[in-house]
Amino acid sequence: MALVSALSVLALANFVHGHGYMTIPSSRTRLGTEAGIDTCPECTIREPVSAWPDLEAATVDRSGPCGYNARVSVDYNFPSNDWGNEPVVTYTPGQIVDVEWCVDNNGDHGGMFSWRICQDQFIVDKLLTPGYTPTLEEKQDAEDCFEEGLLPCTEIEGQVCDYSPDCTSDQPCYRNDWFTCNAFEANERCGCQGVDNAPLNSCFTTIAGGYTVTKQVKIPQYVSNHTLISLRWNSYQTEQVYLTCADIAISDSGNGGGGSSSTTKPASTTTKATSITTSTATGICTTAASVAVTFTESVTTTYGQSIYVVGSIDQLGNWDTGSAMALSAAQYMAANPIWSGTVTLPAGTSFEYKLINVGSSGTATWESDPNRSFNVPEGCETAVTVSGSWR
Ligand SMILES: *[C@@H]1O[C@H](CO)[C@@H](O)[C@H](O)[C@H]1NC(C)=O
Ligand SMILES: *[C@@H]1O[C@H](CO)[C@@H](O)[C@H](O)[C@H]1NC(C)=O
Repeated sequence: MALVSALSVLALANFVHGHGYMTIPSSRTRLGTEAGIDTCPECTIREPVSAWPDLEAATVDRSGPCGYNARVSVDYNFPSNDWGNEPVVTYTPGQIVDVEWCVDNNGDHGGMFSWRICQDQFIVDKLLTPGYTPTLEEKQDAEDCFEEGLLPCTEIEGQVCDYSPDCTSDQPCYRNDWFTCNAFEANERCGCQGVDNAPLNSCFTTIAGGYTVTKQVKIPQYVSNHTLISLRWNSYQTEQVYLTCADIAISDSGNGGGGSSSTTKPASTTTKATSITTSTATGICTTAASVAVTFTESVTTTYGQSIYVVGSIDQLGNWDTGSAMALSAAQYMAANPIWSGTVTLPAGTSFEYKLINVGSSGTATWESDPNRSFNVPEGCETAVTVSGSWR
């Protein structure tokens, strides 16, 4: 009996590797993570389901269009204190906006993804009521409406809309209104990390570091003071579908006037987490709730050594070397030995930190004293860079 349960735990652990979630606009899942409630944003999974080759075959069940994270028992299909009560961004009808999600390095299952907006306010309102858990039927009705409200890749002039290399022309996945990841077994930059070719840790995940996946979509001719945009990623490798959503407003009254208040800039002007410069707001300054902090550290290393940031906050492992944030050597050159990585932190966070060098044996070597410290700015900046050298 003990053996059986040990085996089933192993099987489960094996199954929940990896994955991804919406980062721009700021999804309910991202906000849940920033609030410290969700410890694995990339683990909001609907499984096991038929995810390939028929992209719409799987029902959503309790996952709904906004996702249910079984790892932390959080249902994102209704508002809580930390998400869902107001739009995170206001768009205009017909606006072309950048949208982004984050795929984990250890769970890039390839496949295809779609961004959707349901244009039936009555249906969406079921997912906007604080404290009310939508029924399974209401969640599925909403998902059906989101599928009808696909924001096609092909609507953006000049955007490359490929067919999935993992799909043959006789299969239902052979469509380019959805977006595709690269071939799952491509030799270089395979799967979803190949979409942006971004460096490791260009976005935050908890398992093995994330890669951004960025596309453009066109907001439909529809207005709402509070509605949702949803991302559905169908995995090619595993029987999994990933669902996340963000609270948005769509207003045609211009410049954020009328309707709900806009708390952040439109995504089209949001600086991507991969940016290594400090963004400056154009026009009206809005206060950023969170800031992408990029460390670019100059450290000469030898083969087998890796650089991590460890510090006084959860995101940097609370001084536990085993939970430190890995930096990426993607930009490393002998003449300019840069290790870099980005973590998104609430504005106003103060922390201390140090670099550590972890050898192939796993032994961590610490920088010399004193501790470094940093205060995340509270202002318009959505991205800042912290630069330094090993000491
Ligand atoms: C948005 O809210 C404003 C102010 O309450 C209201 O006048 C307007 O009709 C609302 N728009 C929609 C589309 O519900
Ligand atoms: C750095 O921070 C750690 C953890 O708070 C502390 O134990 C250590 O004394 C600090 N080092 C210095 C030089 O202040």
